[in-house]
Amino acid sequence: MTGFVGPIETPEDLSKVREIGLSKLLNRPRIAVGLSTCGIAVGGERLFARLKEIISSGGYNIALVRVGCIGFCKEEPIVNITIPGKPLVILHQVSENDAEAIVNAVLKGGVPDEKVLCKVSSWDHITRTIIYGTGFEQIPDYHDIPFFSRQTKVILRDAGFINPEDIDEYIAVGGYQAFVSAVSSRTPEEVIDIVKQSDLRGRGGAGFPAGLKWEITREAKGHLKYIVCNADEGDPGAYMNRNEMESDPHMLIEGLLIGAYAIGTSDALIYIRAEYPLAIERLRKAIDQAREYGLVGENILGTGFSCDIQLATGAGAFVCGESTALAASIEGKTGRPRPRPPRLTDKGIWGRPTDLNNVETFCNVPVILTRGAEWYRGIGAKGNTGTKVFSLVGKVENVGMVEVPLGTTLDTIVSEIGNGGAGGKSVKAVQTGGPSGGCIPARLFDTPVDFEHLNEAGSMMGSGGIVVMDEDTNMVDIARYFINFATSESCGKCVPCREGLKHTLLILNKVMAGKGTAADLEMLESLSDTIQATSLCGLGQTAPNPVLTTLKYFREEYEALISEGT
Ligand SMILES: Cc1cc2nc3c(=O)[nH]c(=O)nc-3n(C[C@H](O)[C@H](O)[C@H](O)COP(=O)(O)O)c2cc1C
Ligand code: SF4
Repeated sequence: MTGFVGPIETPEDLSKVREIGLSKLLNRPRIAVGLSTCGIAVGGERLFARLKEIISSGGYNIALVRVGCIGFCKEEPIVNITIPGKPLVILHQVSENDAEAIVNAVLKGGVPDEKVLCKVSSWDHITRTIIYGTGFEQIPDYHDIPFFSRQTKVILRDAGFINPEDIDEYIAVGGYQAFVSAVSSRTPEEVIDIVKQSDLRGRGGAGFPAGLKWEITREAKGHLKYIVCNADEGDPGAYMNRNEMESDPHMLIEGLLIGAYAIGTSDALIYIRAEYPLAIERLRKAIDQAREYGLVGENILGTGFSCDIQLATGAGAFVCGESTALAASIEGKTGRPRPRPPRLTDKGIWGRPTDLNNVETFCNVPVILTRGAEWYRGIGAKGNTGTKVFSLVGKVENVGMVEVPLGTTLDTIVSEIGNGGAGGKSVKAVQTGGPSGGCIPARLFDTPVDFEHLNEAGSMMGSGGIVVMDEDTNMVDIARYFINFATSESCGKCVPCREGLKHTLLILNKVMAGKGTAADLEMLESLSDTIQATSLCGLGQTAPNPVLTTLKYFREEYEALISEGT
């Protein structure tokens, strides 16, 4: 699959690979099928197989490749067509029945008009701009499509454009340049300084400054250290990390390698849930290809820096995303949290200093190094720099992956990008932050989506799931759903979480059955406060948020159920 023979030993070798990758992207007619989990779920593989059959039986000079998800999951299967010299054209809702028309059109240098969504004349991959070409005047531009026009693609810059299973294409769009220049011309301290200057905050939920965590781990006592990527992503409704890994695995690997160099370790790990088989497969392929090119392994580019990347698969317990539980799980123990301190940065896996960052945190690093901290700080808001990827799901018209600068309002995300409630229904609320988050009512949709404002509204960022509820949604039932999830995911180690959540669920069941009383609502509140204040880990400390926010913003729905039942 890769085109360059032998390891990359110099920046010039990297340029040679870039040329090979560019020719794959631009030099011959190409049909690229969106085959992330979302595309596969709606028949993408059948479409791919049919296209393959037609192209090979006709012996046509057309490249057929898999790409990731361009974000508009609602419109999948999505197909991109590249005719040399012309804009890339995005087709939507394509089925295997369209395969023949697509191939015929491409053979004539065109596209099947009835399936066209938009065109892209050039694309800013941040690490490099790709010019596709001109023409197809009748086709709307990518930026004219409301779902895309309000977004800023930094993390998702390659998703849906390059083949995630081909390192040459990642290198073609500027990939690994940041890593190669970091190891060959910057000190680890300089790298940490750039990340600190960018004000990048961790994307796993708490928003801890990434550069500072790297610095603390670098300075921690101990020769042997670990750098770990948290790809556990267990929040209901969240699939950003899965999509990032399926669509652009080398972006994560490059960020992780830069992190390993910065903190001074040769041991990197990606902890990923076994329920993400496609992400695992693409990561494995990507690591193998990076190893083949000498970007992973011993004495990378002859600099003396070595780093290997291992995958550790988890069985899919939500609590295993918590840092200390994750460390225990990697050590082969039951994934249960322990009290902190000591923090992982002091005593992590096997007692060694360990840096733990979310997938998306690492994905930000190559662009920060390529474009500089000042450029990065220009995106988003002060103290909340850069973009965030959200999975916009639930009762919303445009379901998909949405990437916006931090500080963008909920209204922009739900009404403008999401196009409001599905089927024209009015939106009532959103739930952000997974089971730990809260429900924010539509009247507060002018809330900027950043770490602090979401907390003020009683919710949180979490890893970026946004679940939309419409006028038909019963908010008590929503609270019950999330408490049911947290109850079944509680590891049982501490009483407030284990018993408190169980009782919260019993009360919510009682209220939903129309048998609740006013005293039950009082009890829900005081139980929630106790669970928050006394639980050992973040799961218990945040699990009551859906109850507290629905009680705060939608109390009348609880009261209606009570009065109906008495
Ligand atoms: C119950 C629970 C589940 C978590 N799940 C995840 C997860 O799936 N992915 C993640 O990156 N962080 C998760 N976190 C947060 C991590 O413990 C940790 O803060 C994060 O991985 C640090 O990375 P960051 O600094 O890049 O944000 C979870 C925390 C808790 C309490
Ligand atoms: S808060 Fe819940 S999940 Fe966390 S340690 Fe206690 S019982 Fe386990």
